[in-house]
Amino acid sequence: MKSIAIVCGGDSGEYDISVKSAAVVKRNLDPEKFQSWLITVTRKGWLATMADGSQQVVDRNDFSIVENGQKIVFDAVFNAIHGTPGENGPLSGYFELLNIPVTSSGQLTSAITFHKDFCKRIVHSFGVNVAKSVLLNKGDELDEEAIISALGLPVFVKPNNGGSSVGTTKVKHPEELKIAIDIAFREDHQVLVEAFIAGREMACGAMRANGRMIVFPITEVVSKKEFFDYEAKYTAGMADEITPADIEEEAEIAIKATAAELYHLLECKGFVRFDFILTDEELYFLEVNIVPGISEASILPQQAAFMGVSLTSLFNMALDNILTA
Ligand SMILES: Nc1ncnc2c1ncn2[C@@H]1O[C@H](COP(=O)(O)OP(=O)(O)O)[C@@H](O)[C@H]1O
Ligand SMILES: [Mg+2]
Repeated sequence: MKSIAIVCGGDSGEYDISVKSAAVVKRNLDPEKFQSWLITVTRKGWLATMADGSQQVVDRNDFSIVENGQKIVFDAVFNAIHGTPGENGPLSGYFELLNIPVTSSGQLTSAITFHKDFCKRIVHSFGVNVAKSVLLNKGDELDEEAIISALGLPVFVKPNNGGSSVGTTKVKHPEELKIAIDIAFREDHQVLVEAFIAGREMACGAMRANGRMIVFPITEVVSKKEFFDYEAKYTAGMADEITPADIEEEAEIAIKATAAELYHLLECKGFVRFDFILTDEELYFLEVNIVPGISEASILPQQAAFMGVSLTSLFNMALDNILTA
C-alpha cells in the first residue's frame, strides 16, 4: 500500500475548483493500492484531513503528518492544485527538494507553462502559431491606442498568470479596454492583451506514462457565452464539449501531433491538456494546462472515457508513472 498526499486548495481564484478536483481524486483512487490524505495548502497553513475528519497541521520540514502516533511520510503527491502554488512551480520545487515524486510537471516546466507570455514565446520558437500579444506590468503607462493599433479588435485581456478564465474579458470596443485591464490586474501583477483568433476551440489531452505517449481524443468546446469563460466552464449546459471533435482528419492529425511534440519539447509530466484554436487555415496554440480539470465532467476525463479509460485507471497511470516499485 502506497501513501499518497492529494494536495489541493492554493491561493488563487481556482481554490474551489481545486478542492472539488481533489475530492474526485480521493473518491476514485484504487483503494487496493493507495491510501490517501487530502492536504489543503493555502497561505494560511497546510492542513491534512485525517480519517476521522479532524485536521492536522503538516510538518513542512519533511511534508509529514502523524496518525495514531505514527509518522506518515508520503510515497507520492497527487497534485490537484490549479493555479498558485501548485501549477506554477513553487510546490514542485519544494517536493523536488524533498525528493517526493509528484504527478504533475517539474518546477521549470510548471513555471514556464503558467506564465502565458513566456510559454507562448517558447512555443512560437518551436514553430507553432500563437496569437500576437502585448504584456503589461502593473504601474506601466497605458497606451491604449498603441495596443489597439498593434492587435486590432477584439482583444482578449487576461491575467498573465491565471486560469479558469478568472479576470479574463473579451474586448470589442476601445472604451472597454481600460476597465478590462483593471479587472485582470486584480488577479495578477501582469496582464496579457492578446489578438482575438477567430476559429474553433480544440482541447487535447496528452500524457506520457510508463514509457508510452498517449494522446487523447480531441474535444471541441462550443461555448454558449461570448467565449469559454468561468461560467461556461463550470455551469452544466453553458458549453457543448464534443468528444471526439467533428473535424477533418488532417486537422486532427495536426492537433494530435502538435500536442505530442509540445508535450515533449516543454518537458511535461503526467496528464496535461493543450488548448488550441483551429482557424480555417491554421492551428494556434492558446495554452497548456499542466494541472487540468479532473472532475467527471471535465474535458480530459471525458476524453479518457471515450478511450475506455476510467478515472481510476487514469489516476493509476499517473501514480504508477512516478512511483518506484
Ligand atoms: N486569443 C484568443 N482568441 C480567441 N479566444 C481566446 C483567446 N484567448 C482566450 N480565448 C478564450 O478565453 C478562454 C480562456 O483563455 P485561456 O488563455 O485559456 O486562459 P485560462 O488559463 O483562464 O483558461 C479560452 O478558452 C478561449 O475561449
Ligand atoms: Mg484555458
